[in-house]
Amino acid sequence: MKAHLLTTIFSTFLATARAAQDPAQFVNPFIGTKNGGHVFPGATLPWGSVKAGADSYSGDNQAGYVSDGTPITGISQLHDDGTGGSASLGHFQLLPLTDTECADYNLTKCTIDRSSRAIGHGDPTASPGYFGIPLNNGVNAEVTVTQHTALHRFTFPTAAEQHLLLVDITSDLAQRYQGTGHATVAPNPKTGGTRVTGSGRWIPSFGRSTYQTYFCLDTPAPVNHAYYYETTSGQTAYTHLNKAGTLDRDIGYHGPAGVLMAFRSAGAGETLSVRIGVSWMSPERACAYAEEEISDISAFEGVHKAARDKWNEVLGTVEVDATGVSNDTQELFWSSLYRSYIAPTNVTGDNPLWESDEPYWDSFYCIWDTFRVIHPLYAITAPTAQAEVIRAVIDVYRHTGFLPDCRMSMDKGFTQGGSNADSLLSDSYVKGIKAGIDWEVGLEAMIKDATTMGDFEVEGRGGVNSRRRLGFVPAGDRDHPPSGGADTRSASRLLEYAYNDFSIALVAQGLNNTSNATHFFEQSSHWANIWNPNATHHGFSGFIQPKNTDGSWYFDTRYDSGGVFRPDHCSPLFGHNDCYGGSSGGEFYEASSWEYSFYVPHDMARLVNAMGGKDTFRRIATHFSRLDTFFSAGFHDMGDEPGFLPTYLYNYVGQPAKTVDRVDESVAKYYSTAVDGLPGNDDSGSMGAYVVWSHFGFFPVAGQDTYLLNRPYFPKITFRNEFTGAVATVIAHNLGAENKYIQSARLNGEVYTKNWISHRLFSEGGTLELVMGARKDSAWGTREEDLPPSLSTGGFEVGAALSSSSSGEVLKGGAMKDESSAVQDDGAPSPERNFFSYLIFLLLAD
Ligand SMILES: *[C@@H]1O[C@H](CO)[C@@H](O)[C@H](O)[C@H]1NC(C)=O
Ligand SMILES: *[C@@H]1O[C@H](CO)[C@@H](O)[C@H](O)[C@H]1NC(C)=O
Ligand SMILES: *[C@@H]1O[C@H](CO)[C@@H](O)[C@H](O)[C@H]1NC(C)=O
Ligand SMILES: *[C@@H]1O[C@H](CO)[C@@H](O)[C@H](O)[C@H]1NC(C)=O
Ligand SMILES: *[C@@H]1O[C@H](CO)[C@@H](O)[C@H](O)[C@H]1NC(C)=O
Ligand SMILES: *[C@@H]1O[C@H](CO)[C@@H](O)[C@H](O)[C@H]1NC(C)=O
Ligand SMILES: *[C@@H]1O[C@H](CO)[C@@H](O)[C@H](O)[C@H]1NC(C)=O
Repeated sequence: MKAHLLTTIFSTFLATARAAQDPAQFVNPFIGTKNGGHVFPGATLPWGSVKAGADSYSGDNQAGYVSDGTPITGISQLHDDGTGGSASLGHFQLLPLTDTECADYNLTKCTIDRSSRAIGHGDPTASPGYFGIPLNNGVNAEVTVTQHTALHRFTFPTAAEQHLLLVDITSDLAQRYQGTGHATVAPNPKTGGTRVTGSGRWIPSFGRSTYQTYFCLDTPAPVNHAYYYETTSGQTAYTHLNKAGTLDRDIGYHGPAGVLMAFRSAGAGETLSVRIGVSWMSPERACAYAEEEISDISAFEGVHKAARDKWNEVLGTVEVDATGVSNDTQELFWSSLYRSYIAPTNVTGDNPLWESDEPYWDSFYCIWDTFRVIHPLYAITAPTAQAEVIRAVIDVYRHTGFLPDCRMSMDKGFTQGGSNADSLLSDSYVKGIKAGIDWEVGLEAMIKDATTMGDFEVEGRGGVNSRRRLGFVPAGDRDHPPSGGADTRSASRLLEYAYNDFSIALVAQGLNNTSNATHFFEQSSHWANIWNPNATHHGFSGFIQPKNTDGSWYFDTRYDSGGVFRPDHCSPLFGHNDCYGGSSGGEFYEASSWEYSFYVPHDMARLVNAMGGKDTFRRIATHFSRLDTFFSAGFHDMGDEPGFLPTYLYNYVGQPAKTVDRVDESVAKYYSTAVDGLPGNDDSGSMGAYVVWSHFGFFPVAGQDTYLLNRPYFPKITFRNEFTGAVATVIAHNLGAENKYIQSARLNGEVYTKNWISHRLFSEGGTLELVMGARKDSAWGTREEDLPPSLSTGGFEVGAALSSSSSGEVLKGGAMKDESSAVQDDGAPSPERNFFSYLIFLLLAD
């Protein structure tokens, strides 16, 4: 018994010690590869351009591999991670073949058609920087990567007389080849082997334009190779190449096309290693990347180790003391943190669209998802990358005229709702991220979003004209150029625009651009113009409801029958799948009015008043509170990003212990280490980042300098700011299964009672010590002065700026002002405001 205990303690100690050096050991890349998580489990570096992994012949293969047992059509070099919509990328599949697929090793007898060539497989293995899969034809396929290059190693069955390889040039996962392809084959004197290059043009998975990609593949010299292509009559034709043979030809619109290669087998244990560089600019660049990044094609283990080391470096800005923490929790935590760094991709220097000295990042898929959790995470754990992201999106503005919302495959993607790049920017701005960023141009870009209507299907905002006139975006808004986006989502877009305006105001204020700050702080209250105090549902009144251009309330005849507005429409209970961007969608995007009615992150104090005051919001005794009901009745949707913040909103009414319970419940109910362990598309790691924050013990109100406290899952977490070198430590004394509520706290040794913290802890370093206990009724964090900042109670240093235009009247109990006077600020200066503004200016001081 004792010996066992000692062993346990010792191995826990060892695990802790190892964790500091090799967090990659806890990463399970397969979480979320089934049931719509669409996680990419293949080999990539953090923010790597090349993402290599197997592609399943499955309807769910948005990211390539799916844990559903379907066979593999190849191992391709580019993927996106966790996306919805149709499958993304999946270019330049390699597939190792044997005489099972190519009778008599005769290349013209190979099965090359994508639907029939797919090969069954055993369980794959993956870890940061590595993916391997045993195929049923006896070949074990493995891949590791550098930034732009994949290194593949195929181990063939001993009996194989030849090693065959199919190189598919035209297929992508969604079969959207558009022609203008090219293929070359030639001996490579530098390697003594053969070099294949190729390219093609495709339609992106969530955009309108087309994009071209290029590869450069180095193989040993084949004993036989053939170019295959589809003729205009739909037949597959072959061009055989002799050993010295070269090929140089265009590939027309008709696919498929590619190269088949046969290599001599030197017998048991010999592997076939091939190197493939990928570029978005040219085959020459693809070859240069390959040669620079992997000089020795046989050095698989060395490349693999370098990839894992890079991951450990990036993961290692966070260290945890895992004493008393289960392996499963560690696996969930590190795997989630890992997925937070898969996208966006750093393609600096490989941008075919414009020349610039600024960084270029792609695969923002989409900022609507990632601004809430991914980029605030980088502000703490990867500020150097975050600064490059900000510079990249500002450079997108310089060259395209607008900040991006969705941007993938070098293309403008479809905008989800608001212009949330504004909040992406303000989040970094208020957290003092400056390196190389021209914030004046950043502000200019944000103001452009708010004032100039472009093609809002892919950039900027809709409803700008109407909002200027009416103070809200009306349902069915037509006051825009014909090129605009769908006139749907008017209610949720207005809420997002209002918060985006608040974000603009924060940056304008920081840059001393006072009148713009005042203007946008004022506009941020526009949400109140579509607050209907009379809308009633499930025992609560006051909901966000769309309005018509004439100011009357909007009802959707499809479901608001009898003139009764249904705030539960678009919730998981009713009409959930109606609510996307298209014309069949309603006035809310991917969440209900129930959920969006909680979305006023800059003025929760005013919102709580509008809902009838704190007691309605949080009541425990007589009946369930509005927030409790939102969860218990099933209106909450954890499968989409607007569902994240509500789990923390109890802090705004002084109930941080209920936040702890709600977040714990959400993590336990919706997330696990299983292949189906995600509640929705991972959305470039966003679902993972929610898990990461929940384990940290605090959550970002993205766009502003506020982190709401829940409780850490580790007794100690250390954050090393790789930019400033500052070290922040969060310690949870006495943490245990029951002891999970904060009883008291100290920040840098001083008693700390607020239920939120600011970024200063991470930019300057310091220690937050929490004393945990089982009591839920601790007074910690419950008082008025402990609540997070709100505009109307003087947060964000705006009381003074706005006081001239303020009536001082607070929206109460649903007794709303009409729209002509509703656009007013309720803020009165308070001591809290001064403290907060002090923090903002301290952080931004040069
Ligand atoms: C390969 O198969 C084709 C088609 O069946 C046949 O015409 C050709 O002779 C075969 N080649 C060899 C080398 O056997
Ligand atoms: C936790 O993981 C370590 C290292 O992988 C292993 O040695 C140990 O047995 C695991 N502990 C439990 C309780 O599963
Ligand atoms: C992004 O790529 C560029 C060009 O290779 C490199 O200089 C930069 O360090 C990369 N950024 C990060 C955060 O890795
Ligand atoms: C305020 O910002 C706008 C947009 O960037 C800029 O045009 C203007 O010059 C700025 N004004 C001041 C006073 O900085
Ligand atoms: C804004 O004005 C304050 C007070 O004059 C000054 O200290 C600060 O440096 C200014 N900030 C910027 C970004 O110009
Ligand atoms: C506000 O920003 C606009 C640019 O959109 C600029 O023209 C204007 O000068 C700014 N206002 C002030 C007072 O700086
Ligand atoms: C709410 O209902 C009352 C009573 O019918 C009405 O006077 C008031 O105008 C309504 N408010 C709104 C904003 O529709």
